Amino acid sequence: MTKTRDACQALDARDPLADMRARFVLPEGVIYLDGNSLGALPKAVVNRSRQIVEQEWAEGLIRSWNDAGWYTAPTRVGAKIAGIIGAESGEVIVTDSTSVDLFKLLMGALALRPGRKTILGVQGDFPTDAYIAQGVASFVGAEFERVAADDLIAAIDEKTAVVCLTHVNYKTGFIHDMAKITAAAHAKGALTLWDLSHSAGVLDLQLGRADADLAVGCGYKYLNGGPGAPAYVFVAKRHQTAIGHPLTGWFGHKVPFEFAPDYVPAEGIAKMLTGTPPMLSLAALEAALDVFAGLDMRKVQAKASSLTELFIELSDERLTRHGFTVASPRNAAARGAQASLAHPEAYAVVQALIARGVIGDFRAPDVARFGLVPLYLSHVDVFDAVGIIDDVMETEAWNTPAFRTRKAVT
Ligand SMILES: Cc1ncc(COP(=O)(O)O)c(C=O)c1O
Repeated sequence: MTKTRDACQALDARDPLADMRARFVLPEGVIYLDGNSLGALPKAVVNRSRQIVEQEWAEGLIRSWNDAGWYTAPTRVGAKIAGIIGAESGEVIVTDSTSVDLFKLLMGALALRPGRKTILGVQGDFPTDAYIAQGVASFVGAEFERVAADDLIAAIDEKTAVVCLTHVNYKTGFIHDMAKITAAAHAKGALTLWDLSHSAGVLDLQLGRADADLAVGCGYKYLNGGPGAPAYVFVAKRHQTAIGHPLTGWFGHKVPFEFAPDYVPAEGIAKMLTGTPPMLSLAALEAALDVFAGLDMRKVQAKASSLTELFIELSDERLTRHGFTVASPRNAAARGAQASLAHPEAYAVVQALIARGVIGDFRAPDVARFGLVPLYLSHVDVFDAVGIIDDVMETEAWNTPAFRTRKAVT
């Protein structure tokens, strides 16, 4: 039986995270289902951004590197992310973009496993992970091999240096079993490198418990750090002395302000830094992360599950007749905070939905992707969004040349 709007309201009334929505700026008339691409703006970021520009930069000038804690920000903000992903502080640092961090860690992983030449991944992961692996492989004479997700564990062997995976698939929301794959990699002497871009901030991640080796992730998706927010690197403590990477810039030096002629790596996670951090973005990310202070990530994951479950249930009931099929795992435990629907006209449908205030996104060739962020969405939002999708299909509102013409960013 179809879940009613009243039933969704009742679910929201029992939502332990309901208060979190008030901490975000959300435009009137918009149901924002794209926080997996660019997270919504936390209110605290507005004031913090003003403060760093108007006071710390304008008044403090260069003194702010010391006086306003800019210099220590990558480590400090990294420690906040560590708390969200089940790592220890001192295992995470904020730096560069996810792509650059993948490069650093893949190079680092290959050097930690001399004699092993294979970077192993799966088909269908986010392209930058594969592109960087291909770039690394071609420069150092390694191999980048991709297999189907089901064949992954069997493909790990004594040639595998590192298994590099997006923990939650960007298109379907499928979650890899981090502990199981890590154990399988370790049993063959290989390392794991996880891209947490679609996991951190919505799942109860436990990198320490899973014995993960290395990880990276975006700051601008579920962590809400803003467009182009810096990314982060996780290196388990046990690897921090031995690991190196080729982007040995002065910020990763042991004593950068000694201006020594030769590179000596900093101790601990700080060696993963390269150059001067983008302080305006980093300050925004830090303020955004305060939203997570004291949050129980198990509750966050449970709500994500409840929202995606509702979306899938309503889609089955109301959208199947329009030709949609569910492209996300039906098992909630294997699904991140997104629900994806496949449809041959997915691109035009997504544009028509955006025009109606339901912002999701399109992923080629045929996926309409909806990020159901537990911190600022309700069950009623999901109910209303599915109603609007139903209406856009019923009225064929998507079927116009304007909606069918591809834009540069989808
Ligand atoms: C899984 C994953 N990794 C990495 C990125 C992007 O990396 P970068 O921060 O280098 O643009 C994305 C962007 O959507 C992504 O989905």
